[in-house]
Amino acid sequence: MSIALDRPRRITRLLVTGGAGFIGSNFVHRTLATRPDVRITVLDAMTYAANPANLAGLDAARVEVVEGSVCDAALVDRLVGELKSPGEDEGAAAVVHFAAESHNDNALRDPLRFVRTNTEGTAVLAGACVRHGVHLHHISTDEVFGDLPLRGSGQPGSEDRFTVATPYNPSSVYSASKASADHLVRAFVRSHGLSATISNCSNNYGPRQHPEKFLPRQITGLLDEETPRLYGTGENVRDWIHVDDHNDAVWAILDRGVAGETYLIGADGERSNLECVRALNLLFGRDADDFVHVTDRPGHDLRYAIDPSSVAALGWTPRYTDFAAGLAATVDWYRDNRAWWETSRKDAELIYRAAEKILD
Ligand code: NAD
Ligand code: DAU
Repeated sequence: MSIALDRPRRITRLLVTGGAGFIGSNFVHRTLATRPDVRITVLDAMTYAANPANLAGLDAARVEVVEGSVCDAALVDRLVGELKSPGEDEGAAAVVHFAAESHNDNALRDPLRFVRTNTEGTAVLAGACVRHGVHLHHISTDEVFGDLPLRGSGQPGSEDRFTVATPYNPSSVYSASKASADHLVRAFVRSHGLSATISNCSNNYGPRQHPEKFLPRQITGLLDEETPRLYGTGENVRDWIHVDDHNDAVWAILDRGVAGETYLIGADGERSNLECVRALNLLFGRDADDFVHVTDRPGHDLRYAIDPSSVAALGWTPRYTDFAAGLAATVDWYRDNRAWWETSRKDAELIYRAAEKILD
């Protein structure tokens, strides 16, 4: 069976959950810039991870922002129901579900919050989409597959990448809650007739990412003349993709993805954390090896790597193929937007520094 629709959907109404966070707000901005006929309702609980500035000043005729939780069944039911207007094409409306607790380090401190939002919230949304006959695109992560051995380590699987056939094997409460959500979406498809697609993407970078995350933490630290901080040895590998490339792939799935299918999104961007920190130091004109090793993350996944052939089959290719250039542009964004990150960096560092020790 083909994994691409012959005739694209024509979506003009979206409910975007988590649209005030990093990837969701970039999705809203990119949609407004590239899809003039699309109107958006954002549903966001405005947790610490949301920044109101992310959606400030947008065209009110095209974007409505509703503050509330994906776990609020009555609110979700109303918003999904409102997506369908009489006379509009069947299939013109969809939900893109970004809302989640997204940070592994927080899942170590407060796991139940992750189960509620990521798992229960997805089931609430899926139920409303079934009732109103609206398509759901569920945004998931490559972390549901667990981790891979380092390339060249001689371990079985060390040359592999995750594919749509890779079994789920999550390591953290964050990734287990996302894996549960993926299973729930598939169960709603099979047993309740939900129309849904799922995408599992690798690590995103770009503007508006919270300074608790690896790259913005190091970038904002360097802007404050602090030394980069690597968990453990720094050998861990992530497969980096620019947030706009991720969101263009989501649109390729909304346009041409087949209901019931899963798509893996990645841009051949494997880099060790050590390589990232060295690249950042060089961008700041510093000695590449001027960083500190700090306490490692318990259960720290070693390597993620995505085989993107499922989403490439929809005609999508990444535009940001030069990681150094994408990183330099991201540094410029943080340099130009200090007011956006200063408070959230302070808050995140208070939590980090209380637990983290510099290793010898
Ligand atoms: P983020 O933490 O920056 O944003 C999450 C947003 O969800 C925030 O605006 C927050 O306020 C909102 N939110 C949290 N709980 C909510 C609730 N109960 N109801 C409504 N809104 C709620 O996260 P992100 O990095 O933008 O990730 C977005 C999605 O993409 C997540 O589902 C994540 O699992 C997935 N993902 C992220 C990456 C990555 O590298 N960041 C990679 C692959 C997949
Ligand atoms: O793979 C997709 C996932 O990528 C998403 O599902 C998650 O939502 C997203 O947060 C991200 O998860 P990671 O745990 O990979 O991202 P994080 O930015 O927290 O860390 C990236 C790597 O950097 C990881 O190996 C841990 C390391 N790290 C992190 C911090 C904050 C450091 O070495 N130093 C740090 O200070």
